[in-house]
Amino acid sequence: MEIIKKIELMQELSDKWRRDGHIISCVPTMGFLHQGHVELLRVGRDKGDRLIMTIFVNPTQFGPHEDYERYPRDTEGDLDKARSAGVDAVFMPTVEEMYPDGFQSAVTVNTITQYLCGKSRPGHFAGVTIVVAKLFNITKPHLAIFGEKDYQQLAVIRQMVRDLNMDIDIIGVPTVREQDGLAMSSRNKYLSPEERLSALSLKKGLDLAKAMIKDGEKDSATIKTAVRELILAHPFTEIDYVTICDPEKLTDIEHLDGPSLLALAVKVGKARLIDNIIL
Ligand code: PAF
Repeated sequence: MEIIKKIELMQELSDKWRRDGHIISCVPTMGFLHQGHVELLRVGRDKGDRLIMTIFVNPTQFGPHEDYERYPRDTEGDLDKARSAGVDAVFMPTVEEMYPDGFQSAVTVNTITQYLCGKSRPGHFAGVTIVVAKLFNITKPHLAIFGEKDYQQLAVIRQMVRDLNMDIDIIGVPTVREQDGLAMSSRNKYLSPEERLSALSLKKGLDLAKAMIKDGEKDSATIKTAVRELILAHPFTEIDYVTICDPEKLTDIEHLDGPSLLALAVKVGKARLIDNIIL
């Protein structure tokens, strides 16, 4: 497995693989890999014949009071997992390599970045789009794999790729969960044992909504209130949003007639957790 820190070297390797007729999959990550990432790597391995994983904790997608400095890092563990997953190259640049002095460009997706996490994390998706666009230009993949847990991120990246005619297939992979239902996330590391129990309220909220719909409930406000009440009945929880919206436009839905997305963001202690389900 090659470990590459320089943009030019990564581009040269991808160019060579492309010339040799290989199909390149890319799995962008911020490291501290868990089983969810391993599943993304499995899908990448399956769909391409050269697999690149990127590790870069991207400062531009964190707000000033967010967890950039304390975001968990474990490079050696990540490299071991990457090797076991059959990764061919890990691209892990420094911040200076990605954002040298004088850097001044932006990639903006306008509308769908305004809802859900975009409301409480202004600038977050601008940070995601600029770094993902750069990672695409550096790793030159045919396919890129992202988790559906970050539903809005996946939608924003799909929109960017469509709008900018990037010739890359974006593949979404279903959320991987712990045995008790908690969606896997690097930020689960912040949870104390008591908070970890409260974090299960997100999945319980999704299950409650599913059950209510099965029983015939179609009023979005009624479902959202029940989900909020369930989550707030758990200690340490602070709701950022409980939203039922159109799965593509991400605009609010009042009455459930067709497919819709229930998306949650909840702070549990210091961890801001998200989860979602298509209803
Ligand atoms: O989902 C993530 O880990 C990050 O947002 C990504 C896509 C690697 C961009 O920094």
